[in-house]
Amino acid sequence: MARLERTDRFFGYYPATVAVITVQTPGARNLMSAGWHSAVSMHPPMYGVAVGPERATHPLLREAGRFAVNFLPFEFSREIQGAGVYSYHDGRDKFDRLGLKVYSGALDTLILEEAYLAYEIDQVQFVPFGDHDWVVGEVRQVHYHPEAFEDFKLTGEVAAVYLGRATYQELQGEVRTHPPELFRDAE
Ligand SMILES: Cc1cc2nc3c(=O)[nH]c(=O)nc-3n(C[C@H](O)[C@H](O)[C@H](O)COP(=O)(O)O)c2cc1C
Repeated sequence: MARLERTDRFFGYYPATVAVITVQTPGARNLMSAGWHSAVSMHPPMYGVAVGPERATHPLLREAGRFAVNFLPFEFSREIQGAGVYSYHDGRDKFDRLGLKVYSGALDTLILEEAYLAYEIDQVQFVPFGDHDWVVGEVRQVHYHPEAFEDFKLTGEVAAVYLGRATYQELQGEVRTHPPELFRDAE
């Protein structure tokens, strides 16, 4: 096994999906890509994302107290990357720059039309960890493209898998299911 002294070269660990966070306040709207995101609780359903305080998105999240997490398919990998390179600090609307259309969700968060799955999240808490804040809240509403899912598995659209270093791969190929019953010991 090779060793590397500098942890930052392999940090965070990829492959992984990249979430596109959208946020809206009375005076602004924005989106940004986040590779560091996760479900953290089932009951209640909670989801978190790591957001650097220097992101233009950060104060908007504080002001809004709610946001949406969107997952775009592989054909939008360029837009995912663009949402993570452009910054609203320059004052230009990133939705228009990237040609991404939205509709308002039940909580008035912004849902990307092309997202095969999106969560609306409110009651947001900010928990600081090192150089990012873990921004976590309750999932109130789920939006999805029905044709993209079969038995809640993404089969109808191809996920974008991020490999790090601005590189994306389409998630395709052999699928295997290993039901939990297979792992129960025989009496
Ligand atoms: C693939 C990818 C993943 C990223 N993941 C995160 C992340 O998890 N947290 C974060 O704070 N920034 C992350 N970024 C950086 C922000 O998306 C980037 O700084 C963006 O320009 C912020 O936009 P804003 O200033 O308009 O908020 C990521 C960027 C890319 C390209």
